[in-house]
Amino acid sequence: MIATAQSNAGTRAHAEPEPVDAGDPATLFVLRVIHFVTNYVVSHLPSFGLRRMWYRHAVGATIAPDAGIHLGCYVWSYTSRQVKRTGFRIGAHSRVNRGCCLDARGRLDIGQNVSISPEVTILTASHAVNAPDFRVELSPVVIEDNVWIGTRATILPGVTLGRGSVVAAGSVVTRDVPALSIVAGVPAREVGTRDAGAAEYVLDTPFPLFE
Ligand SMILES: CC(C)(COP(=O)(O)OP(=O)(O)OC[C@H]1O[C@@H](n2cnc3c(N)ncnc32)[C@H](O)[C@@H]1OP(=O)(O)O)[C@@H](O)C(=O)NCCC(=O)NCCS
Repeated sequence: MIATAQSNAGTRAHAEPEPVDAGDPATLFVLRVIHFVTNYVVSHLPSFGLRRMWYRHAVGATIAPDAGIHLGCYVWSYTSRQVKRTGFRIGAHSRVNRGCCLDARGRLDIGQNVSISPEVTILTASHAVNAPDFRVELSPVVIEDNVWIGTRATILPGVTLGRGSVVAAGSVVTRDVPALSIVAGVPAREVGTRDAGAAEYVLDTPFPLFE
């Protein structure tokens, strides 16, 4: 069916709840500058320490000292106050590899010794597809200890990845994954299980410059 101008003249859409904390245009401008600097400047600085400091202080994340976010990741958030309120945590010895998208608009809780491979997308927000205002809906994502997410997987809002579970490369995870389960495909289905002892490691790897 061809959309007409009249059919588009419905309720004004609130595609983004932003600015949730911005009171005036000057504040909104500053928030947008911080978001730009986070994702197009700081995310490309070749130092884990500098990036970690910025994500903590300017973005509002809680990141363990021995957790690391590699170069070129995109953190999707509104304001540091919002992030502190909803929660964005990365636990000890966890790694987010290059080019990942971390959506911290809803709660994002990443446990310890979690390995997130390059270019993974984790989403905590979606749109209410049948709501006349196309409103944004937030649902938390929880990634428990010792999970491994393969390259280019997508984790949808509301999903919990159980302790030690594995998500195969390129999968789209639409529902909770039990502990130690290996899931693959679109949508992701169980294709195997991991031995309990295979998910006890500590990811104690270095933080090289330029990575
Ligand atoms: C998850 C993974 C480790 C599974 O390995 P595994 O337990 O040895 O599983 P298998 O290779 O035996 O595959 C089991 C089934 O899942 C399927 N499968 C495996 N990986 C898949 C994927 N990414 N997408 C869809 N299906 C997949 C296999 O085809 C097989 O199906 P079948 O039984 O119908 O033939 C591996 O497939 C994977 O995706 N690794 C991620 C690699 C990566 O991201 N590396 C970057 C960081 S180092």
